Amino acid sequence: MRRALIIGNWKMHKVVAQAVGFAREIAGGFSAMADRDVAIAPPFTALHALSAVLKDTAIALCAQDVHWEQEGAFTGEVSAPMLLDAGCRYVLIGHSERRRWSGESNEDVNRKARAALRGGLAPVVCVGETLDEREADQTFSVIRRQLKEGLNNILADDIRRAIVAYEPVWAIGTGKTATPEQAEEIHDFIRQFIERIHGTEIAAGICILYGGSVNPDNAGSLMAQKDIDGLLVGGASLDAGSFRKIIHF
Ligand code: PGA
Repeated sequence: MRRALIIGNWKMHKVVAQAVGFAREIAGGFSAMADRDVAIAPPFTALHALSAVLKDTAIALCAQDVHWEQEGAFTGEVSAPMLLDAGCRYVLIGHSERRRWSGESNEDVNRKARAALRGGLAPVVCVGETLDEREADQTFSVIRRQLKEGLNNILADDIRRAIVAYEPVWAIGTGKTATPEQAEEIHDFIRQFIERIHGTEIAAGICILYGGSVNPDNAGSLMAQKDIDGLLVGGASLDAGSFRKIIHF
């Protein structure tokens, strides 16, 4: 049985004091549940403070990006050992906003995913098609390429620790959620892809999140789908009340 995972992706929101206030509020009302894990992905600047607040709570920390080198002359970048040191368990990789605004390629995603695994973090590898690609019937080929190139050269033992997030770009921040059936179709496709490369046991265990306009009203029906194992929540994770409802879906 796969454990559910819900991650709140705050993107470029909340200064430290706001982040700490929110984390206290959420962590105070959430005790560990046997069937799910919960994490918050704040901006880098709030990681250290949140790791103190979330220590000994049931909420884990997730970073929003990582560099593929461990250290060196890479101004502005943050490495996997640094994120581990700051208390992170997960890191988002290849979010569509990074692909769009920072030109991240599938090859970058692959280097980052492998660096995260080497550094002891669980990479959350994001894939998803744009509206143009969906309308041109390219959804499956786009996702297949993102998975093939993004998860290239990752050994079976490591892939067990990886997480895939399906986030249709047209559903992110738009209020247009994929229907549970639309999302399930792609999640099933992703699991089959993993199965072809790594076999049934690994495919059955891998956690596949859905993201894109998740809110308290649609979280339950998305989570009821066979291959949707968790949620990557943007806008609705910024408000403690709505995030609390989502993590208790
Ligand atoms: P959204 O963002 O929930 O605001 O659509 C999701 C994401 O980008 O991870």
